[in-house]
This record gives sequence, structure tokens and C-alpha cells, in this order.
Amino acid sequence: MTDQYAVIGNPIQQSKSPLIHTAFAQATGQDLEYTKIEGQVFAADVDAFRARGGRGLNVTAPFKLDAFAYATERSQAVQLAGAANALKFEGERVMAENFDGVGLVRDVTHNLQRPLRGQRILILGAGGAARGALVPFLAHAPALVVIANRTAAKTAELVDIGRQQGAGADQVRACGYADMAGQQFDLVINATSASLRAELPPVPADVFANGALAYELAYGKGLTPFLRLAQNAGVKQLADGVGMLAEQAAEAFAWWRGVRPDTMAVIEKLTVPLV
Ligand code: ATR
Repeated sequence: MTDQYAVIGNPIQQSKSPLIHTAFAQATGQDLEYTKIEGQVFAADVDAFRARGGRGLNVTAPFKLDAFAYATERSQAVQLAGAANALKFEGERVMAENFDGVGLVRDVTHNLQRPLRGQRILILGAGGAARGALVPFLAHAPALVVIANRTAAKTAELVDIGRQQGAGADQVRACGYADMAGQQFDLVINATSASLRAELPPVPADVFANGALAYELAYGKGLTPFLRLAQNAGVKQLADGVGMLAEQAAEAFAWWRGVRPDTMAVIEKLTVPLV
């Protein structure tokens, strides 16, 4: 029987995962079928999928915490993020992974060709997306990671995670939006959910260093308020999350199937111009 995989979320009709994984399967000659599940009751839906022979799932909003709870084994990335975006089933075992952070970092370092060693990174937001990105960033030895958020308690938690990973006090810091004046960064990541509502996080326009990359985690929204701010500030390299989407999918595919697909064709197909 053809191996079954799916993405589960709600809503789910917008998901590009079936297109991406079907393209990966064709390119690598893997025999699998990949569908969408509009989740209602996560555990019951996943039980039913496994009973039909399901081998693995991608998990999207609002079920990443449910996927964490459902798993019997959690990777370090899952434990740090407190959320899972991929599951693999082997008999009774349910293994959980979170590839969002590594997907983002691979997009930045590999596709966008921005080495992170010695760089100054600003992460806007301290929710699930920012949590997932912090540790993969630290693995590349940046000079500095500053995390900015409206709600200070969440930023403090992220800084603690950074310290537990061995980051020095001067390497990972929290900063309020109001206290950012005069600081400049080589990479500014919008990991807030503001763009989903066409809002702009209150970041000053002078945070972009010469030659900076402005990266919007949201995908397919064109020039979001954050990217527009960066463009108006003279930033030449703008990116949205299409590469991250493809790279986290490639990580999941490799984890399930043991072969890592090339992402370029998928990225080209899904890219929405930043205008
Ligand atoms: P996700 O899993 O996508 O990261 P989340 O965990 O709900 O979603 O986190 C959303 C993040 O976006 C939070 O850091 C939130 O800031 P608060 O913690 O202060 O709420 C941030 N956010 C959402 N809308 C924002 C806005 N208009 N301006 C600034 N930050 C915003």
C-alpha cells in the first residue's frame, strides 16, 4: 500500500504542504500519498489517520501544542519550542519534531547566502515562531541576538532559554521596542503575527544596519508593513517565509523518508513577488 502522509490544521484549505510534498516525492522517486486533514478533535483525528495506515503528519495552527502533548518522544527542538510541527508514527511510537527554526536558519544561510557567524540579529516577537528560531540561530555563533516583544515576560523566558544553551549575557538580550534607539542589526526577523492582520510591530526604522536583510516569517503576503518599513529605510535584501516553508518541509520529508529533496523548484513555484 502507498505510504500515507498528511497535514493537519484548521483551517487547512490554504496549506501548500500537499503541493510541496507531492513535488518532493516525484523528484526523489518516493511512493507516497499526501493529503490535507481539517482537524476537529486532534487526538481522535490522528488516531483515525494512524488506523488508516498514516505514517507521518505535518501539524499547523492551531494544533502544534496538541501535537506536543500527543507525542511519546520529543526532540530537543520540540521541548524548547513547547510545540511540534511534524509527527512520525512507528507502531505505538509517536515521534515529534519541530523543523520551523532549522528551516528558517537554512533559508537564511543557504538560500539567501547570509552566514550568521558574528552577525547581529534582531528577533521581533517572542511567541512560538521566535522560540523555535532562537536555538538554531545560536548554533551559528552570532555576535548578538536581541529579542523584542510587547510583553516583556515572554522575552525574559526566551533569554533564559538562550542562556541555558550556553549563550553569554552579552550575546542574548531582551529589549523593549521603546528602548531600541541607536541599535543596528544585520538581520531583522519579523516573528510576530502582526503581518497576518496587516499590522506593523512598533520597531524603529533605523534598526537596519548597512547591508541588512529584513526577513518576514509570514509567507505570500507580498510587501507587508514590516517589509515596507525596511524598504523605505533603504534595505536592499527583503525576504518572506517561502524559503522557510520549503526548508522545514524538506527537513520533515528527509526525516520520514531518509532522502532530502532539493527545494529550489518548490521555492520558485510558490514565490509571491514582494510588491
Ligand atoms: P506564533 O506561534 O505565530 O509566534 P504567538 O505565539 O501567538 O504566535 O505569538 C505572536 C507574537 O506576535 C507575540 O510575540 C506577540 O506579542 P505579545 O506577546 O506582546 O502579544 C506578537 N504580536 C502580535 N501582534 C503584534 C503587533 N501588532 N505588534 C507587535 N507584536 C505583535
